[in-house]
Amino acid sequence: MQLRNKDLLGMKELEADEIDLILENAATLKRILDSGNKKTAHLQGKSVVTLFYENSTRTRLSFEMASKFMGAASANIASSGSSVQKGESLLDTVRTIDRMATDILVMRHPQSGAPHGIAPKVRVSIVNAGDGMNEHPTQALLDFLTMKEKYGRLEGLEVAIVGDILHSRVARSNIWGLAKMGARVRLAGPPTLLPRELERTGARVCRTVDEALEGADVVMGLRIQLERMKSGLVPSVAEYARFYGITPERLRLAKPDALLMHPGPCNHGVEMPTLVYECPQSVIDEQVTNGVAVRMAVLYLLTARRNA
Ligand code: CP
Repeated sequence: MQLRNKDLLGMKELEADEIDLILENAATLKRILDSGNKKTAHLQGKSVVTLFYENSTRTRLSFEMASKFMGAASANIASSGSSVQKGESLLDTVRTIDRMATDILVMRHPQSGAPHGIAPKVRVSIVNAGDGMNEHPTQALLDFLTMKEKYGRLEGLEVAIVGDILHSRVARSNIWGLAKMGARVRLAGPPTLLPRELERTGARVCRTVDEALEGADVVMGLRIQLERMKSGLVPSVAEYARFYGITPERLRLAKPDALLMHPGPCNHGVEMPTLVYECPQSVIDEQVTNGVAVRMAVLYLLTARRNA
């Protein structure tokens, strides 16, 4: 079996069997990370470029590490040091990268739908590394790998996603993907940051964080995205922490061994206090490692599809 599309644009575009394929390959490729020799030939002779119009530590670095571990020629270009600063359009920028014999372009852009508009116009395979408030598919895939490592399945899991849902592409990718995999999603956050139309996805919109966490298998905090926020959506950061923060008392409402997740970067003391971030149930560090494994799998499978 192979991925069906040239590009990986979102969880909306992936079928459940493709999600399983990526997770199975990620679990296998993860063994390379634990081995003494992290150099493989999976991407030998291939080229990967990362193009980021927004800041990133985890996503950009993990794609770059994944490319290097698997033997690809890799390069990165940030909008700040490129001809974007001279006014070059996104399409012309991507066409230029395409014409340099690039096989895979990993891009992050502040505009929702930006990679979807570009992908049909170029030969290079586009991987969406986050588009505005829309999707961040490889984050959801690494979250799924982390859940599967603990539970062996996604089907039937009760997943509580808490915080700034409105601005969160991580939440949207998780919501779309978890529904396809048979998990149940509960959402909680400030009413101004909790779009009710997400109920159409099958997710349960809860009135309080306590209600969302009660009996959950997975508790996922989200970063409060002050950079995307119009004024007045939250009264103050202190009040946000008080009413919507994942405190030790609230975490105890979930199942006793529930996973505590966060995509990072975390605002300590706002989304959760440091003692929750570092508690035994926290798998936030594992999420980071799984990010490399999932991105190895995505690069490998997209390359295999191009070769077919
Ligand atoms: N989770 C995530 O996308 O982190 P970065 O912004 O550091 O890539």
